[in-house]
Formats: sequence, C-alpha cells, structure tokens
Amino acid sequence: MDASLPAPAGHGLPQRGSPQRVLLVGASGFLGRHIAAALASQSHAVAPVSRRHGLDLARLDSPEAWQPLLVGIDAVINAAGILVEQQGQTFEAVHVRAPQALFDACARAGVQRVVQISALGADGSAFSAYHLSKRAADDALRRLPLDWFVLRPSLVHGADGHSARILMRCARLPWIPVLGTGRQRIQPVLVEDLCATVLACLRAPQARQTLDVVGPEPLTFAEWLQRLRAAQGRAPARLLHIPTAWAYAAAAVAGGLSPLLRRDNLRMLEAGNVADAKPLAQFLGRLPATLAPASGAGAAHAEGAAS
Ligand SMILES: NC(=O)c1ccc[n+]([C@@H]2O[C@H](COP(=O)([O-])OP(=O)(O)OC[C@H]3O[C@@H](n4cnc5c(N)ncnc54)[C@H](OP(=O)(O)O)[C@@H]3O)[C@@H](O)[C@H]2O)c1
Repeated sequence: MDASLPAPAGHGLPQRGSPQRVLLVGASGFLGRHIAAALASQSHAVAPVSRRHGLDLARLDSPEAWQPLLVGIDAVINAAGILVEQQGQTFEAVHVRAPQALFDACARAGVQRVVQISALGADGSAFSAYHLSKRAADDALRRLPLDWFVLRPSLVHGADGHSARILMRCARLPWIPVLGTGRQRIQPVLVEDLCATVLACLRAPQARQTLDVVGPEPLTFAEWLQRLRAAQGRAPARLLHIPTAWAYAAAAVAGGLSPLLRRDNLRMLEAGNVADAKPLAQFLGRLPATLAPASGAGAAHAEGAAS
C-alpha cells in the first residue's frame, strides 16, 4: 500500500464529500496517472496497483489475493487494461479474471463503492475480444450488491496519451492520413472530464449506474484530426485517404508496430463509437468540454475543412 495512505482504522462509512482512501488499479497508466492527480487534488489518498508498483494482475486472480490490499480502503477504481494481447498479457487475465476477483473481494470486505473504467462499445453490440472482455467484467460487477459505476469512455484525449500523441503527429502532417472516407463517427472526451466523472462517482448519492463518458458531440475521424491540428495552431489541411483494404493489408503485416494498426482496432474504428452525451451532462451538471483551438490559430473547428 502507498506510504501516503493513513493507517487503516476500523472506520465507519466515509462521508461521500470527505477524503477517501482509494485503491486505484492501473495507477501507472495514462488514465490512472490523471485520476491519481485528480484524487490527490481533492485530498483523497491513493493506494496504487500496477506492475510498476510491484503488483501484477496475473497474480491477483482470486478474492483472497486482493483482500490485504483492501484493508482500510473506502473505494476502488479499476483503470487497468490493455488494448492488445501481447507479451503474455491476455484480455482474460487483465480485463476479466483479476477485476472479477477484485469485485468479489470488495463485496466480501464491504468496500461498497467501485468505479470500473470500461470502454464505449462494451455493450450488446460488442464484437471485438477487447470489448467483450470489458463487458464480461462490467456484467460481473453489476451483479454484485455494491455501489458500482461502470464508466464507458470514448477515445480519451490528453496530450500525454499514447493514441493522442500518434494522432497529434498525424494531424501535423501536410496531408492528414485518414482511413477510407475518414467519416467514421467518434466522440472523443477530454481526460479532465473523465477525471471529473470519476470524482463525481465517489460522492454521488445514486450509485449502480452505467455512464457513457463522451465528448459533447459526435465528430468524424477527419474532423477530429482537424481539431487536433487546430489545437496545435495550424490551419485545416487536405486529407490523404488511405484505402481501407490497404490499411487492413498493413495491419496484417505491421499490426505489431502499434495497437492502432491492429485489425480488430481498425474494425472498431470503422464501426463507429458514439453515444448520447446528455446523461453524462446531467451527471456532471454541465456539458463535457470541447478541444479548443490554439489561441490565434484562426483555424476554428474543422467542419468544412479541405478534404
Ligand atoms: N485511453 C483511452 O482513450 C481509453 C478509452 C476508453 C477506455 N479506456 C480503458 O481505460 C483503461 C486504461 O486506459 P489507459 O489509456 O490508461 O491505458 P494505459 O496507459 O495502457 O494503462 C494501462 C494500465 O493498466 C495497467 N496494467 C496492465 N496490465 C497490468 C497487469 N498485468 N498488472 C497490473 N497492472 C496492469 C498498467 O500498468 P503496468 O503496465 O505498470 O502494469 C497501466 O497502469 C483501459 O482499460 C482502457 O481499455 C481507455
């Protein structure tokens, strides 16, 4: 457990607005780092779990294994995950077995509040192994008598995110590469809004909710890249349409180079990934934010940009 945590002390249920001791699984990741900072900003104490913190989910596959980590914990956030199976990591171990064991352990230990970071698309329409494994853990959590939240974020944007870095680079090119027409529908959300949602889950009186964590409006993939371009102070650029068949052929030979190039991930992009933002806006008490163009860019938003 993190040294910053106060000693466990046979405490009663925490006041929802008061500082809590939070077990944060996936604390070393992109979302985990932002969530940890957001928790700290509200005086919550964080007990981190990740391989970087010496804890491998592959070994945390039973409620008994989680039990010692839950002592003195008020709430649990699971922000661990993988986009592709590689280096011995499997969806079954990371997305299903360990989280299910964790949720069971929470029910046994009386750690009522559990926030599961799932993914937009992990619903009845799921077809990829990634989404199906996320959904399996979400369903397991929903069956337990806990104060659960299942958050299903769309693509999360933050300058230090792995996919954001790649997409920002693509958006700076003289011709912006897009898959096929570039009209795949996505609804990116800013990492600050994802964190605000997680914090709100810790204090919300009404639990047992599934929320799609999306930006204010659906965009096409091409529009998103133009927005990323505007955010870097550049005017809209022409699109370079990569034929879909070429992208799949590249995925077959070079899928190992980046998770974004994997066949399943191309299929998920093609299928689109959007949702109604109103329930999130209601939960947050405001609309999620839009990515602003760099001041002085004069590029405004990308609708109507060259194509
Ligand atoms: N980023 C997005 O746009 C986005 C959108 C929707 C949903 N999500 C979901 O949100 C979750 C986090 O995404 P992210 O972007 O933060 O991913 P990330 O940067 O790759 O972080 C993944 C986290 O999971 C941990 N992890 C992976 N395998 C582990 C293992 N065997 N044992 C312990 N910890 C393990 C990693 O820690 P170590 O490597 O140190 O072990 C890391 O802390 C994922 O489930 C992802 O599917 C993300």
